[in-house]
Amino acid sequence: MEVVIVPDAAAGGEIVAQAVAALLSRKPDALLGVATGSTPLPVYQALAAKVRSGAVDASRARVCQLDEYVGLPAGHPESYRSVVLREVVEPLGLSAGSFMGPDGSAEDILAACAAYDAALSAAGGVDLQLLGIGTDGHIGFNEPCSSLASRTRIKTLTDQTRVDNARFFGGDIEQVPHHVITQGIGTILEARHLVLLATGEGKADAVAQTVEGPVAAVVPASALQLHQHATVVVDEAAASKL
Ligand code: GLP
Repeated sequence: MEVVIVPDAAAGGEIVAQAVAALLSRKPDALLGVATGSTPLPVYQALAAKVRSGAVDASRARVCQLDEYVGLPAGHPESYRSVVLREVVEPLGLSAGSFMGPDGSAEDILAACAAYDAALSAAGGVDLQLLGIGTDGHIGFNEPCSSLASRTRIKTLTDQTRVDNARFFGGDIEQVPHHVITQGIGTILEARHLVLLATGEGKADAVAQTVEGPVAAVVPASALQLHQHATVVVDEAAASKL
């Protein structure tokens, strides 16, 4: 595992955007796994700036989601499909057809999970998976004690994650769905390169356990220690307990 400490969130966004740019110059139709939440936004902004300036050609890039809420109405602004379309697909000028994600409003959620897991493999696998981290060490929506071999499946959110994410729902925890579809940890580990970005002091404990703790299901992100090409990019605040 490679750990890169940068001064602040903007520098983290830039360095990860550079990694994506290098991948796209090597493999223009790379499949990029994108994460939601606040942390990766500087990455998408830095990447979009490179596309606008002509430094990066993302016209053939493909994008896939890490996770999705279950049961939000189609087009809800905080569904992860809406977020990825708004923050990644549109700013990078990608076509909607270059984008895939799990169907959180499917009638048969179990079938939708299996279909998405299979679709990722059929697409040739994820080339670079960008990850954030929850304050409890979750990646995607793999909450603590998720199996390290898990596949894409339905999960129940912990109260802590619902509290953490209530800010996207007007601060009202009642609006935060209880259930989600997430790529499993085993699914995530199949990506060719994992890049976990964490910024801010609130992530310092989770980062320390991820990087220096034992590999354990109670800290899902610690599974990155098992991957051959994992990069953890942290700002000084998130690195403060290393
Ligand atoms: C959600 C997402 C995760 C993300 C986490 C942290 O739970 N499912 O993929 O890493 O939030 O979000 P933030 O970056 O806003 O702290």
